[in-house]
Amino acid sequence: MRIRPVKTKQELRQVYDMSVEYTNNHQTWREYLAKYKKFPDLFLGAWEGDKLIGEVFGFKFVEGVITLHSIAVFGTEWKKGIGRNLIRAFEKVASKYSPKVNVTSGREVEDFYQRVGWKPRGLLAVYEEGKKPPKELSLVPLETHFRRRDKTTFPFFDISDMTSRERQDFEKELKADEINLVLEKRLR
Ligand SMILES: CC(C)(COP(=O)(O)OP(=O)(O)OC[C@H]1O[C@@H](n2cnc3c(N)ncnc32)[C@H](O)[C@@H]1OP(=O)(O)O)[C@@H](O)C(=O)NCCC(=O)NCCS
Repeated sequence: MRIRPVKTKQELRQVYDMSVEYTNNHQTWREYLAKYKKFPDLFLGAWEGDKLIGEVFGFKFVEGVITLHSIAVFGTEWKKGIGRNLIRAFEKVASKYSPKVNVTSGREVEDFYQRVGWKPRGLLAVYEEGKKPPKELSLVPLETHFRRRDKTTFPFFDISDMTSRERQDFEKELKADEINLVLEKRLR
């Protein structure tokens, strides 16, 4: 297995298709291509011979941090260390552009990011159109990129000082439609 940046447009298309199939990459091919043109070396694939078995890509949405947008490993190859190797390769390239990486993760993969050394930074609560977080909760500025095309809002809550029990209680108070975790890692 070899991890390397995408070389051709055809390979990029394979990587894109894999990320759409496995992750919540809702971007159109055109949007994806535009990002690739800005940071081509942040688009990596894991190849077994000429078969693509994993992908990772990221982008610099704000200064000072590279955001991991999508990571996926082919289903039959899970839990063999490929995801960890993809993350390592991604971090190495990202460190050229910024001292930090971050990601917005769904519950199901939170543990994976923690196992590879990324630290929880905050909760991103999702409120569908018209709904809002309870007034008494304080918001902090959001430094990661997250958006959808509808009017859903995503207030961000700092949880860096919370124990896991406090976090559980806090999550209930949020009364959100969905809760994601933002994790980050300092690279230098
Ligand atoms: C998440 C994903 C990329 C992990 O890939 P992988 O190759 O199985 O990961 P690794 O084998 O390198 O695992 C690294 C560590 O994380 C753990 N881990 C992997 N997947 C996990 C999961 N879903 N939940 C909890 N822990 C997980 C492994 O046990 C391993 O821990 P260890 O080092 O203590 O043994 C893969 O499951 C996947 O493609 N999922 C679907 C796509 C997705 O959800 N992507 C993330 C959102 S963009």
